[in-house]
Amino acid sequence: MDDKKANITAVIIIIGLIIFIIVARLSLKLSKAFFLIVGADIAVILAVFVCLVIRGRYNHRRKLLEKKLVSEGRELRIEYSFLRKVAGVPIKFRLKELEDATDNFQALLGQGASASVFKGILSDGTAVAVKRINGEEHGEKEFRSEVAAIASVQHVNLVRLLGYCCLPRGPRFLVYEFIPNGSLDHWIFPGKGTKNRPEGCLSWDLRYRVAIDVAKALSYLHHDCRSRILHLDLKPENILLDENYRAIVADFGLSKLMGKDESRVITTIRGTKGYLAPEWLLEHGVSEKCDIYSYGMVLLEMIGGQRNVTLIENGSDKSQRKWQYFPKIARDKLGEGKVIAVVDHRLVEVGAIDERQVKRVVHVALWCIQERAKLRPTMAQVVEMLEGRVPVEEPPDPQMIMVDFLSIDEEESDCHFRPKIAAMGSNVNSCNIPCSSSSSFAMSMLSGR
Ligand SMILES: Nc1ncnc2c1ncn2[C@@H]1O[C@H](COP(=O)(O)OP(=O)(O)O)[C@@H](O)[C@H]1O
Ligand SMILES: [Mg+2]
Repeated sequence: MDDKKANITAVIIIIGLIIFIIVARLSLKLSKAFFLIVGADIAVILAVFVCLVIRGRYNHRRKLLEKKLVSEGRELRIEYSFLRKVAGVPIKFRLKELEDATDNFQALLGQGASASVFKGILSDGTAVAVKRINGEEHGEKEFRSEVAAIASVQHVNLVRLLGYCCLPRGPRFLVYEFIPNGSLDHWIFPGKGTKNRPEGCLSWDLRYRVAIDVAKALSYLHHDCRSRILHLDLKPENILLDENYRAIVADFGLSKLMGKDESRVITTIRGTKGYLAPEWLLEHGVSEKCDIYSYGMVLLEMIGGQRNVTLIENGSDKSQRKWQYFPKIARDKLGEGKVIAVVDHRLVEVGAIDERQVKRVVHVALWCIQERAKLRPTMAQVVEMLEGRVPVEEPPDPQMIMVDFLSIDEEESDCHFRPKIAAMGSNVNSCNIPCSSSSSFAMSMLSGR
């Protein structure tokens, strides 16, 4: 019974008893029975008063207690979410919160193979990037991979997952810290500018620092986490730049966890053309060496300011098209001692490029893209080489026999590779495709970036 009801009942009882006393006085006069009734009524009225007082006090106490609990609970919640934030534990968001933060998913930051990323501001003012992963089964797999890899790791050069939101049978959302300068591709490839993000040209020094940042992030994933984490989709689109142009590795949708005692894991071929290691394409399983290969490819693209594979002559049919394979050009120029010729011409025009540094990066990149996975250095060694703590030896000539051909396809779209590989011998060296820096051929089996 609530307070109002109890008070009304008490007043009704008291009025009833008073009326009863008046009626008894009129009908029984001042008889003994009347005094008995008056006594009993007064006792009941007193009892009702006492009950009301006790109830009032009890309610007052209860309200005080409730208030205290609510404020303590709120404090606890604030403390808890603060601790989660500090510890980097992702929190669960409601869809409404994300809709409000992104103004109903208005500002598109970028789009990949299976997700769209929108800018948002949380109610506490934190700028976020909300990744909406589409596709039911595939999306679920990607969501799980991404959470499993990134939720438990902390590194200055890895993107921070702030939270997530899952809807039954709906899209899944991942909430990341917002990285203001977007992805690296906009800063190294000309012609990548959009209305929201004009293109820029990263200086040589910043590119060099980005190379070290990414190497450190991968080294941490490969060597310093409880289980080895393979990124498996390293490319400029998945490297973000913060306000100081420091690199932040993002997009763990294709990542894999690998036991420290495992040397490779078997997984379906996915990823992006041009960055996939040959052993993966040959279905020999993946290891951290696949990331190292992709890293080498990214390094070359950073040096040259161009995609590793570019169409240079567009014939009417596939066989007449001519492609340029930048890793071969880099290797040849290095052999001729003209290492500056491989550097992004926009940087060369500005000048102030340390030739020894360029040589070192090209050497490291060529070590990383060796077809034989065993020859590739570890990411920890790459960091040491780039930081100049160990000398970089002359790399063996990478054969580049099939990888470049496997890298090429018709589409320029940003989609991931799905297994379409033609049956192919497992011996890389047995493939007799011509090997030149500019060749025409008809092999087309991978999808675009
Ligand atoms: N945290 C972020 N801050 C700013 N931009 C981001 C962020 N995360 C992603 N983006 C942009 O969105 C694009 C796609 O994001 P990504 O996570 O790679 O999705 P997908 O898995 O579909 O490739 C990126 O290339 C980048 O331009
Ligand atoms: Mg991506």
